Amino acid sequence: MWNELIRLREATESRKISELFDDTSRASAFSLQNDGLLFDYSKTTLDDDIRTALIDLAREADVEGKRAAMFRGDKINTTEDRAVLHVASRALVGDADDIEIDGRNIMAEGRETFERMIQFSNDLRSGAWPENGPKITDVVNIGIGGSDLGPVMAYKALMPYIDGPRVHFVSNVDGADIHDALHGLDPNTTLVIVSSKTFGTQETLMNARTAMRWMEAGSDNAMERFVAISTSRERTEAFGIAPERVFGFGDWIGGRYSVWSPIGLSLMLAVGPENATEFLRGGHSMDCHFVDAPLQENMPVMLALVGLWHQKFCGYATRAVVPYEHRLSRLPAYLQQLEMESNGKSVAMDGTPLAHGGGPVVWGEPGTNGQHAFFQLIHQGTNVVPVEFIVGAMGHEPDLREHHEALLANCLAQSEALLKGRTLEEARNQLIGQGKSGDELEVLARHRVFSGNRPSTTLVYKKLTPYVLGQMIALYEHRVFVEGVILGLNSFDQWGVELGKELADGLVPAIASGKAPENANGSTRMLLEHFLALAAS
Ligand code: F6P
Repeated sequence: MWNELIRLREATESRKISELFDDTSRASAFSLQNDGLLFDYSKTTLDDDIRTALIDLAREADVEGKRAAMFRGDKINTTEDRAVLHVASRALVGDADDIEIDGRNIMAEGRETFERMIQFSNDLRSGAWPENGPKITDVVNIGIGGSDLGPVMAYKALMPYIDGPRVHFVSNVDGADIHDALHGLDPNTTLVIVSSKTFGTQETLMNARTAMRWMEAGSDNAMERFVAISTSRERTEAFGIAPERVFGFGDWIGGRYSVWSPIGLSLMLAVGPENATEFLRGGHSMDCHFVDAPLQENMPVMLALVGLWHQKFCGYATRAVVPYEHRLSRLPAYLQQLEMESNGKSVAMDGTPLAHGGGPVVWGEPGTNGQHAFFQLIHQGTNVVPVEFIVGAMGHEPDLREHHEALLANCLAQSEALLKGRTLEEARNQLIGQGKSGDELEVLARHRVFSGNRPSTTLVYKKLTPYVLGQMIALYEHRVFVEGVILGLNSFDQWGVELGKELADGLVPAIASGKAPENANGSTRMLLEHFLALAAS
């Protein structure tokens, strides 16, 4: 099928997307809807033949069989010998059957932990906890990667639903991060959540120790206001956090998929258990759709296939995600981890080089801000960057309707401009209208040409509720899964982050002792010596 798709690309390379719309049914034929979401991929070069071939490619890679294996709890993360069951966290709110892994009923365990989270959230939000202290007004979530990006992305996204404590997120080992987060907080009314799946991450543990010193300096019973979220009971205990304040989960939930697990506790504290449950319900709804819908009607499958078409057959190495929803400001960063830590690989499941390479570079920023920055390149640059627009029909501020109308207009205008472009003739006529002529007209006109024919997709929802956010995140997760299956890689390990961690562990004592390690590269030694000299001067 791969060769057939290459052939189809060659045959359609000069295709004008705008001409495909001569068929008045194109917009509906190349878009799909599910449970309030609409995914429009009509502004691409896909036609029936290409779509059929892409779906055959998915069948050939056994997307359906591998999807079943994931939902069944098979150990599809073979390099870590783990099941991949973040979907089970959202099935807790459905009527899912029990799932056993290594003799443990993970659904029963998950339900019990979820009930504890709800109880803890209700107690903290009402002021019933802590029993012997003032009400908690601020929560500091310390974590990095998936233990930060999911909660912070969702917290910002669901701002209108926050009626609990303020949450501050600390991830970076740079002391500036924890310093600024703790600044102005009262240790007596602050809860610190140490979120770390492994409880072995350098940045998180260093920040947690700093927070502990801050807490101890400013209040009695400091450790009482520390909560841990981790898969390692031993490590949380060694850190001094009492078991009743530890929320555990299993290693079948990957770090970048853990916002659905107790790692989402900070979100639950802020928006309350009901909204947090709605978030899970949205994710579960997308899971059911992913499992049940035929491939052509399946949103995650089609999102993945359109992405593969652009990256692998059209040769567009990156894609931009542009939410026209200011509260999704951390979604691009979240998707960068989700997509690039999952599919940024070079070897297949069996360790041989990938036949067709790994996943794409993903980047983005909210619109309309991006329009005044990188959209120049997207419209007129020499690299074609497919854009994934994300937009809601309504905002949460009825008094500010005119803002939302302007936002929608901009979103639609951008995808339309990418598609249509502007010819030299049109540019000339515009300039003639402005009184230009001669050489000046010719030069200026060339700068105002837009090639157009640049692909984009648009994901539309009514309003960014907790449920919709859940649907959207699960949609992108399954998209990454489908892409990984077709590329033949393991989307659930992350060996690529290990080497730098190991080297950093070796360099920390070198910096502290002021002596570069013998085996460091010449540039690294020179830089280290320079840092030390600067710091001492
Ligand atoms: O560095 C990569 C990574 O392992 C991510 O996959 C993970 O989300 C992050 O580090 C944090 O890990 P932990 O939750 O174990 O502290």
